[in-house]
Amino acid sequence: MSLADSPPRPSGPSQPGLRERWLLWRNSWLASPSFQRWSMRLPLLRGTARRHAASMFGVITGFVYTKTLTAAVDLGIIARLARAPASTAELAADSGLELAAMQRLLAAAAAIDLVEALPGDRYTLGQRGAALANNKGALAMIEHHKLFYADLADPVAMLRTGRGGGALAQFWSYAEAAGRGEPASAADPGTQAYSSLMAASQPMVAEQVLDAFDFRKHTQLLDIGGGHGAFLAEVAARHPHLGLALFDLPPVAAAARGVLAARGLGQVAVHGGSFRDDPLPAGPGGRPVDLISLVRILHDHDDGVVQALLAKARASLPPGGKLLIAEPMAGTSGAEAMGDAYFGLYLWAMGSGRPRTAEAYRAMLAAAGFRQVREVRTALPMVARLLVASA
Ligand SMILES: C[S@@+](CC[C@H](N)C(=O)[O-])C[C@H]1O[C@@H](n2cnc3c(N)ncnc32)[C@H](O)[C@@H]1O
Repeated sequence: MSLADSPPRPSGPSQPGLRERWLLWRNSWLASPSFQRWSMRLPLLRGTARRHAASMFGVITGFVYTKTLTAAVDLGIIARLARAPASTAELAADSGLELAAMQRLLAAAAAIDLVEALPGDRYTLGQRGAALANNKGALAMIEHHKLFYADLADPVAMLRTGRGGGALAQFWSYAEAAGRGEPASAADPGTQAYSSLMAASQPMVAEQVLDAFDFRKHTQLLDIGGGHGAFLAEVAARHPHLGLALFDLPPVAAAARGVLAARGLGQVAVHGGSFRDDPLPAGPGGRPVDLISLVRILHDHDDGVVQALLAKARASLPPGGKLLIAEPMAGTSGAEAMGDAYFGLYLWAMGSGRPRTAEAYRAMLAAAGFRQVREVRTALPMVARLLVASA
């Protein structure tokens, strides 16, 4: 448990400004039952009013949709329908549910587009179900979210207790132990489970980075916090000329060696250590690295750790070398719910770090001595935004 690592907030002006007065005026209208009734009746406002009502209802009832999804995945309905359409009776028999219960679940799953009804009481996948069926990362997250959900059962208690008091923090405890200078064990099931989860969800992140950044100008890449090497495996497939090195906590690095060798990537230099305490390694054969990647690393850590890591990265890059920061960020237009709501509470439950805006990273990178920072647009900023800093 620890206090939140949040930046000091400037105190507000004593007189409310124009924006504040407008918000108070707007909210007094929105809260008024007669305005709500009137806006539903007025043809010009009805569409907007319905959209607002539907979106608010989605926020109030979202947990039911999440649990419908969890049941459809856990009972094998998504996997079964990905192979072929099936009848309600077949799905009930496969999953051991009573027919009436399966009917109720399928109706709920159809309502949120996970499945779609066919003639003759049969079902196939809906659009969301079809997009999910082969997405190993999303399926792994659905399983993993059971821990987070347990912490969120009493959100006020979770916030009162302070960061990292619940089930999710246990999952990540090996990295926190390393932060306290305690050795993490390769046998720790958390080490394996966490790294496997990250590897499953990594390809969709790697795709964003590989499509957005030109790796061809570089020769040696060091991936810090590289887990089991899933990111480097994707890089190697597209850029075989690059020398590759991975740095992660010793038990994770030990597992990464086996995973990479099994994938035919024994050329990747794997180093075990902690970026909090140890110097950053060089590339394969001791060659200096000219590119460093931090993929889904910085938001896991508090400001002091991040600032020190950025300074280390800066010191180990030659002039013109580049640092890549790729992760979902706070304040991302159109993805605020992901950056600020999901990651904000996820990292609180995990017990360390915070979602940061691109502007916050720019300031930290400047303080670490990077000369220039540019953002490269990715196709799905919700999954990862990409900052490129020049040494
Ligand atoms: C969120 S995972 C991201 C893994 C990978 N980059 C990805 O995107 O799939 C964070 C990684 O940072 C590693 N890590 C945490 N603390 C570390 C430390 N002090 N030194 C080195 N690696 C660390 C973890 O073991 C884990 O593999």
